[in-house]
Amino acid sequence: MKKTLKWTGIILVVLLAAIQAIRPARTNPPVDETKTIRANTTMSSEVAAILERACNDCHSNKTTWPWYSQVAPVSWLLVNDVNDGRKDLSLSDWGTYDPKKKARKLQKICEEVKTGGMPLKSYLVLHPAARLSDSDKQTLCDWTRQEGERVLASQ
Ligand code: HEC
Repeated sequence: MKKTLKWTGIILVVLLAAIQAIRPARTNPPVDETKTIRANTTMSSEVAAILERACNDCHSNKTTWPWYSQVAPVSWLLVNDVNDGRKDLSLSDWGTYDPKKKARKLQKICEEVKTGGMPLKSYLVLHPAARLSDSDKQTLCDWTRQEGERVLASQ
């Protein structure tokens, strides 16, 4: 029994060491400041602060990669979340979206925060500051509604 435990431990350590060789790229592509959501919408500094604090890490090219994002298999999960997050909604490339897409994404932002889908629960465990209060959610939703009307009116 003791021997089995010891071998299981050894195999685990070797496996953990071996998987470190697989290092998905942690990217922060360059940001064109004229394309950001800040530059292409009218938002209060309060809204900007909420997005920055709770969403930027996965929905912009300005991700702060924590030390544990270097350690497999956590690194694989994090890189995946950031790549998927950027693909679905990029606050850095907002200016490249057409009006229809902007309106749709604005609506989704409110929906996701109201239902507690975003920020991802797994993120909140180590980023408690990203937790949104009811008033943060209201501030975001008031803004997405206003901005959505503006986008559709300008079409
Ligand atoms: C830890 C990473 C992470 C954080 C932080 C995060 N998101 Fe996401 N988000 C994702 C991922 C991954 C997806 C795509 C897959 C999914 O829906 O789970 C996504 C999808 C979305 C979508 C869906 C887009 C669509 O068109 O379907 C919206 C909207 C969204 N996030 C808004 C937000 C907002 C607003 C915040 C901040 C309050 C936020 N997210 C914070 C990772 C994150």
